[in-house]
Amino acid sequence: MIKGQAPSNIALIKYMGKIEGTGNKPTNASLSYTLPHLVTEVHLHEIDGDQDQWAPLELKGFAAPELSEKGRSKFLGHFERLKQAWGLSGHYRIESANNFPSDCGLASSASSFAALTQAAAHLREQKTGVRTSPEELSVLSRKGSGSSCRSFFAPWALWENEGAEAVDLGYPDLLHAAVVISAGVKEVSSSDAHVRVTSSPRFEGRVDRAHQRLRDLTSALKERNWSESYRLCRDEFIDMHELFETSAVPFKYRTKESSDVTDACQHIWNHKGDGPLVTMDAGPNVHLLFRADQRELADKMIEHFRKKHMTFTSWRGLK
Ligand code: PMV
Repeated sequence: MIKGQAPSNIALIKYMGKIEGTGNKPTNASLSYTLPHLVTEVHLHEIDGDQDQWAPLELKGFAAPELSEKGRSKFLGHFERLKQAWGLSGHYRIESANNFPSDCGLASSASSFAALTQAAAHLREQKTGVRTSPEELSVLSRKGSGSSCRSFFAPWALWENEGAEAVDLGYPDLLHAAVVISAGVKEVSSSDAHVRVTSSPRFEGRVDRAHQRLRDLTSALKERNWSESYRLCRDEFIDMHELFETSAVPFKYRTKESSDVTDACQHIWNHKGDGPLVTMDAGPNVHLLFRADQRELADKMIEHFRKKHMTFTSWRGLK
């Protein structure tokens, strides 16, 4: 049996919009923070059959995702691509599970596809003795799910074109929590969102805006300007959600509860001149990143949100 494991990541400059027919090459560069406490594990078992299969992985502390038919075939298709790229033969039962509840509304495609890529690379090494570099893993994983290409580097990953790379922007020990507003299945998948945003009048200029913000955020983080980093991350997720909400057939992930949480964060910033970085992906949940020295504030905020919402928290260094 061969194992692979990979973490999830949260983008602060978002990948939204891809260049058609390029295997998920993005229209703009993105920057993410790796979340080593949220992982997917994949096990590969060689089987006699004539096709690969997917099955839930049973592992203590892990829960298998509910994979739709489409999700399953995307996952198996990615494995086939990896086998072809590396000249691997045979058929396998692919088992996978996440160490975070798969029904809690947090994206798991980044960690799932990265873990499958990692497992296939271990298979390659076992069969051929060839090791695969993180850079090559990133380029191949991107073809399965764009955001997964950033999961091979930590703590920061920058993805501009073919694959991601590590960048040093400091803050190696940020604390992460996600306020879970809804655990439901999204009406519009992120794959559809990538296509639909291009019909928004606001898509014109989006690439320039994202790149300018990436430059500004990179400088702010390097200069340890936390409040400017907060402002830029906020502008960025709002920009992405405005694209969704102004596309030709508009769609919306933000809810009243999401806004209550982001407004509460703004309120804290206004009062204290300090607070967490705040961002949202293609969903209603709100991600918070705190500096290591903000633990007390983090605990207070989590407690506050826990009273109102189901809160999923997971801290680096704590289980
Ligand atoms: O990897 P995908 O196709 O599921 O895209 C996810 C895109 C966002 O999560 C919304 C943003 C990002 O950069 O991760």
